[in-house]
Amino acid sequence: MKYRIGVFVLTILSLVTVGWAAELCQHDLMVRGGAVYLAMRGDIGAGNLEAAQLKARELVDVSKEIQYLWVTQNTNWQVDDGVEWAQDSHQKSIELLKILEEGDLDAAAAALQATGQACGACHQKYRPARRTRQ
Ligand code: HEC
Repeated sequence: MKYRIGVFVLTILSLVTVGWAAELCQHDLMVRGGAVYLAMRGDIGAGNLEAAQLKARELVDVSKEIQYLWVTQNTNWQVDDGVEWAQDSHQKSIELLKILEEGDLDAAAAALQATGQACGACHQKYRPARRTRQ
């Protein structure tokens, strides 16, 4: 009996730890994504094409990881619309990188906004709710 209780407690503890680690991981990604997004907006505004391209590459990576987390990790709040927004913001950041590689700064400004809207769609539904729990 004692053994069973021990196994039960250990199982619960490891589930809590895994969930907590996934949230920390997600928070780091969001902070990185936000910083890269703002810096890229500055680069595009100032016409620094190469600097903007570097950041766009990083945003492609970050948004891919966000998508990965939503699809695979957060089973407690894995919901279809969140997964779709994660996929959408990743796709939009790939398009943004393509446009920057073609050197079109005006189109890049519009694509950056479209990417931000995809990120924002998810925030509208999931960010405030999660903040109040912190
Ligand atoms: C699938 C949903 C989803 C998508 C897509 C998403 N986010 Fe988030 N984001 C969240 C949630 C939930 C939080 C609040 C919890 C946290 O910070 O971990 C958050 C928080 C943030 C924060 C605030 C971090 C802080 O300092 O508190 C920033 C900045 C951010 N996201 C940037 C982005 C950017 C940029 C993108 C698009 C490339 C993006 N997010 C896409 C769900 C999402």
